[in-house]
Amino acid sequence: MITHLQEINRRRTFAIISHPDAGKTTLTEKLLLYGGAIRLAGTVKGRKSKAYAVSDWMEIEKQRGISVTSSVMNFDYNGYRINILDTPGHQDFSEDTYRTLTAADSAVMLIDGAKGVEEQTKKLFQVCRMRGIPIFTFINKLDRHCKSPFELMEEIEEALGIRSCPINWPIGSDGNYKGVYNRKLAQIELFHAGEDGQRIFPSENGTASDERFKEIIGEDLYLKLNEEIELLDIAGDEFDMEKVISGELTPMFLGSAMSNFGVQPFLDEFIRLAPHPGEKSTDQGMIKPDAEEFSGFVFKIQANMNMAHRDRIAFIKICSGKFEKGLTVNHVRTGKKISLSQPQQFFAQERSMVEEAYPGDIIGVFDPGIFNIGDTLCEGKKSFRFEGIPIFPAEHFATVSTKNALKRKQFLKGINQISEEGAIQVFKQPNIGVEALTIGVVGIMQFEVLEYRLKHEYGVDVTIQTLPYQLARWVSVEKFTREMLGYTDQAEIVEDRYDRPVILFHNQWALNRIREKHSGITFYDIPPYV
Ligand code: G4P
Repeated sequence: MITHLQEINRRRTFAIISHPDAGKTTLTEKLLLYGGAIRLAGTVKGRKSKAYAVSDWMEIEKQRGISVTSSVMNFDYNGYRINILDTPGHQDFSEDTYRTLTAADSAVMLIDGAKGVEEQTKKLFQVCRMRGIPIFTFINKLDRHCKSPFELMEEIEEALGIRSCPINWPIGSDGNYKGVYNRKLAQIELFHAGEDGQRIFPSENGTASDERFKEIIGEDLYLKLNEEIELLDIAGDEFDMEKVISGELTPMFLGSAMSNFGVQPFLDEFIRLAPHPGEKSTDQGMIKPDAEEFSGFVFKIQANMNMAHRDRIAFIKICSGKFEKGLTVNHVRTGKKISLSQPQQFFAQERSMVEEAYPGDIIGVFDPGIFNIGDTLCEGKKSFRFEGIPIFPAEHFATVSTKNALKRKQFLKGINQISEEGAIQVFKQPNIGVEALTIGVVGIMQFEVLEYRLKHEYGVDVTIQTLPYQLARWVSVEKFTREMLGYTDQAEIVEDRYDRPVILFHNQWALNRIREKHSGITFYDIPPYV
């Protein structure tokens, strides 16, 4: 019989953050492979061109069984329950990634060993840091030419402001790797190029200075390894879990996801070190995971996950208590009692019913249109709210209209559902019918996805005309008229779905001008109230 506390302690819920092409898909696949959750690696084909049309890309995502927006995969490994939060790789969908990170208890920062710290990694790292999520580093593609690990450590410190503590260390360089030395276990793990499938690599126990290794890896590499390990031992940071938790230190692993090399040692050590779900802050203090009553929050909503079901799923991260099928909870925002019907867990496109779930787990519940991203659900009479689901201001705007006036109803339904997922922001132009709406997005590719989804999920063809605006601002007054803008073609007034005025500006300069003109009015980049 496993106790509630043991259930919590054995849970590891994490996301992999990386710049596109660093190998996230490959690593995820290999983790699933070692976890026994899939049987065959390398089945994913056709990833070559990342710049293909969105429709192809979405098709590919579907074939991979991983949706464009994040979903979650879970499996059991060595007594642990692993929940991997999958996040979209493309930066235009990073808003979705940021929200998903609120459900992660730790993150794996995946870095391409040849490229080092890239742009998207920096952004995602900052989000993790802001949220206090401990970060583990995996340097990938060690099977080919990579920067020296010392250089990578320096780069991580300079670009991200975090020190690293290598758990293993490469033997050899410039694509000619013999393997890695595992500092923690004091063993050499040998690398065999060209291996695929699930494989445990041969290892030899012994400290780096063990004379036997001279023969195995050759004298030159042996001497170099010893020099480097000595340097690390003297000048490097000691492993310190407290520093990892506080975000000052990242344990660093090196390997090659494609050739499986270093993946299993990484997985073993990572799940041992990574934190189980911890306490979470709410507007009424901290909630501990072992608290008796259930609580959780919605971090993602997705419609039409499965076209055959045509339903809408709200993803909930469980923060405390125990979830049991049919549990009735308090929906804090509306004060209504809700029975969480058809609770499901997802594995790529597969779904299965959940009988029970614990803190750290993610469940999907059927959403008849009541949930918003960020909603708190809790058992009993309590009514606290979990904090900190970020909202991002839109940066790209377009007029979206249906080509066929008879499809108006489906058009509005589609727009409405997709906006409730948080993928788009919808504005109405006063005096213009709702066949044409002003849509704001954070990443420009969202427009293409919108067009694709409206066509494939709602049967509506649309025209998208980009608008020259870059900023949207809500205001602290109920009415804001066209006259208040004065003579300008650099700004326009629209309304949000609650009929509140929102002003769109071409650029910061235009915003500054209007702001100066109305110094008594506050301009907000996200809605100030709901
Ligand atoms: P992403 O999800 O982070 O965008 O990356 P993905 O896994 O799709 O990997 C990007 C490319 O890097 C793929 O090559 C993949 O095979 C390759 N890759 C991943 N891990 C390693 C590794 O450990 N070593 C080497 N050498 N390459 C690796 P591709 O050419 O885009 O696609 P494919 O034809 O290989 O599938």
